[in-house]
Order: sequence, then structure tokens, then C-alpha cells
Amino acid sequence: MLDSRAASPSTASHLWYPMAHPAEMLAHPPIVLAKAEGVMLEDQTGHRSLDAVGGLWCVNLGHSCEPVKDAIREQLDILPFFNAFRGTSNEPAIDLAAKLAEFFRPEGLTRAFFTSGGSDSVDTALRLARQYHKIRGQHDRVKFISLKKAYHGTHFGGASVNGNANFRRNYEPLLPGCFHIPCPWPYRNPFNETDPQRLAELCAALLEDEIKFQGADTVAAFIMEPVLGAGGVIPPHDSFMPMVKDICTRHGILLIADEVITGFGRAGAPTGSRLYGVQPDLLCTAKALTNGYFPLGVVMIAEQVAQAFESNKDSFGAIGSGYTYSAHPVGAAAGLAALEQIEKLQVWVNAAERGGELLTSLRQLQQEYAIVGDVRGRGLMACLELVEDRASKTPIAKERINRVFAQTYRSGVMVRISGNCVIVSPPLVISAADVQTIAAALARGLAAA
Ligand SMILES: Cc1ncc(COP(=O)(O)O)c(C=O)c1O
Repeated sequence: MLDSRAASPSTASHLWYPMAHPAEMLAHPPIVLAKAEGVMLEDQTGHRSLDAVGGLWCVNLGHSCEPVKDAIREQLDILPFFNAFRGTSNEPAIDLAAKLAEFFRPEGLTRAFFTSGGSDSVDTALRLARQYHKIRGQHDRVKFISLKKAYHGTHFGGASVNGNANFRRNYEPLLPGCFHIPCPWPYRNPFNETDPQRLAELCAALLEDEIKFQGADTVAAFIMEPVLGAGGVIPPHDSFMPMVKDICTRHGILLIADEVITGFGRAGAPTGSRLYGVQPDLLCTAKALTNGYFPLGVVMIAEQVAQAFESNKDSFGAIGSGYTYSAHPVGAAAGLAALEQIEKLQVWVNAAERGGELLTSLRQLQQEYAIVGDVRGRGLMACLELVEDRASKTPIAKERINRVFAQTYRSGVMVRISGNCVIVSPPLVISAADVQTIAAALARGLAAA
């Protein structure tokens, strides 16, 4: 995306990059990062930038979190790896499961099933949801409902409940039995409804309508991100998730909270579910669990779901799902150290305060630059949606948003471009001065569009 690249052409020749067109990567090699410290990145040319991406929503404690690095180093010397399949386990994994049960106690989630990342966690949760109903003799409950614009990873299950055509079309046909309803997004929605609360009610009503249409006894679960992230940072009205929970409960449908991004403070509360006072049946998370330093994910399971499995006496209770690296001792050691820091620093407090300042600064940019069609955010998840003109809301041209990225980067801040959105998700330990640095660099970026 940069004109003068911090890269040689060879950077793209042997390596295919995720979520990128290989031909485009060959034509425009990526920025090669060389090192990072605190909230700062440094590329191969020595250019420094503030990491307003947080790695990818995950380096919540910054790049110099020594306790997590130490824990990884130490565990490598103690027990670098052994599997946890039927009959073997390890202390860090046992301890981390207990700590997570403590952390997620307000959500009522008491068991942990470890995975290798967010997509694994989503697929595992979808599988466990179907299995839960089978255990209870409700074999027809196999369908999933989710939100358009949602992002749930790239495994076939996750891609099937995904609500963005970009991640679906090239891989169709996807899993049968997955249905989508509009998400409560005031800026763009089929009802032309700008009042967030009214829109939340309309979307919740559509969920209930879809459940009735499908037959409630055929639906296994509804999955949602408490604040939609990769789809363009869409925070639903506070009433939405509680309404969804109520509908799911009334129809015997499990609620899966996809908290891969919101799990450990990013939205300004310890979890996204807690933001709204909701207790989901299953919760998927990953990313900040190890501060992004080790690929580890987890599905947290509510007590009543756990009881169904643990009291089962036939083969329906046996979990036929898992990964070589499930309960990886090094990942678990990293998770234990990260969780300790997350709780010690109460990072959600700073996320809420700095997030408020960030949103104010971004709204100021909206006043100054006509291409900023919408500004959204919650905690340290924020987005500028760029348009060619405000009346038509036509998404800004790719070359123009690429110029915004390039100039923002040159001005010392790394942001992420997704479609016509500039996404800002810095580490949760940023200072008020860092927020101003982000806003100032974005102003220069927007001016260059
Ligand atoms: C809400 C959500 N779910 C699932 C995933 C997939 O996680 P991963 O990329 O670790 O597989 C992501 C990744 O950004 C995500 O944001």
C-alpha cells in the first residue's frame, strides 16, 4: 500500500499472505516489520510507527510484556509439548482452565476447552452446540443463525456463519443450515432506521421471526460478536444482546458469544457479554489470551451445558473434536502470565477511558473531512467509514483509502484498512498522548486521500 516500500520484491515471492490476493502482493510487497517495543513498531528501513492495530486486536498489553515472554521461555525448558488427548495433561493447562473459570465467573462459564486460535474456537463451539442438543435427544437442532457483517473466522463452520460475502463466495458451497439476519447497524440497514434502539428491536424481531420460520426445534445456536469487529466495528445498542439472549432462552437455542476480540477488555469491559450483562451458553475467545505471543484459543462452557455432557452415559457425550495443540503447555503458560497482567492492570478501565477520548478525536475528524461518513467505536475498537460523498454513502475508492493508509503510516501510525473502513485497535495500555498521536496522523492521512 505504500509507494516507497520497506520491502524487496522477494518478500512476496515464496510466501502467500492471509486475506490477500497473491498477485496483488507480488505487485505491492508488504511492509516488513523488524521489531517492536511497547506500543511502537519498527520496519526494515528503521521507520517507526505507533501500533494502532494491536498486532491484530490482540497485543493488548503491548509488545514488551516481559512476564508473558518469561513464562514462554521458562515453560520451553520445563515441558515444551505433550498432547492432552485422553489420558495426559499438564499443569499450566489445568491451572489456566481454573483461572479462566474465575475470570468468566460473572458470565457463568465454568469449563474450558482449549484450541489453537479464534477460528478453531468458533468451530468447536458450533460443534459442541449441536452435540449438546443430541445429548438431550433433540437431534433435529442442527441449524445456526448469525448476523450479516459478522466475522467468525475462516474454518468452514465459521465461514458459514460469517456475514460478509468477501469471506464466503470463493469457498461456497458452505455448511448447509446456516441463516443470517440483518445486524443492528444504524449507518446502513435495510430499514433505513437510524435510531439504534429501534433498530435493535427490529433486528431482534427478525431473529424471532427467522426462528419461527425455521422451526425453533431445528435451531442449535445463535452466534454473535458482542461488538462486531472485522466487519467494520459495529457496536449494537446495549439492549440488543440481552434481547437476543431472552429470545434464545425462550426457544431452547444456545447463545454463542464470539469474544475472540472482546474477550479480555478491548470493548471497555472485561468481556463483551459483561458489557451488556448477558450470560452466554458458550464463549469463544483467543488473541489477547496470550497477548498474541502464542497461538491459543479457548471455548468457555456454561455450567448447564457442561452438566449435560458430564452426566451423559452414552456415546453422544464423547467429544470427537480437538487439536494436536489443544492445551499446549507453552500456550497455557503464556495465557496464565497474560491473564495475571490483564487482571492486575484492569486493562478494560484504560480501554474505556482512552476509547472515549479516541472516539471524540475521530468525531472531530468527521467534522473536518467530508470523506468520513461515519465514526463508530466502543472501548478501544474504533472505525472511520470513508465515503465518496455523504449523501450517497458510496464507499471511497480503493486508491484513495490506500493513500490514507500510506500517509498515516508515514506520519508515524499504523492503522488497518478493511474495505472502506479505517480500523483502529491499539494496545489497551496506550496513553492519552498516544491517542492524540493516532488522531494527528489520521488527520494527515485523510488530507492525502
Ligand atoms: C470475532 C472473531 N472470531 C473469530 C476470529 C478468527 O480468529 P483467528 O484468526 O485466530 O482464527 C476472529 C479473528 O479476527 C474474530 O475477530
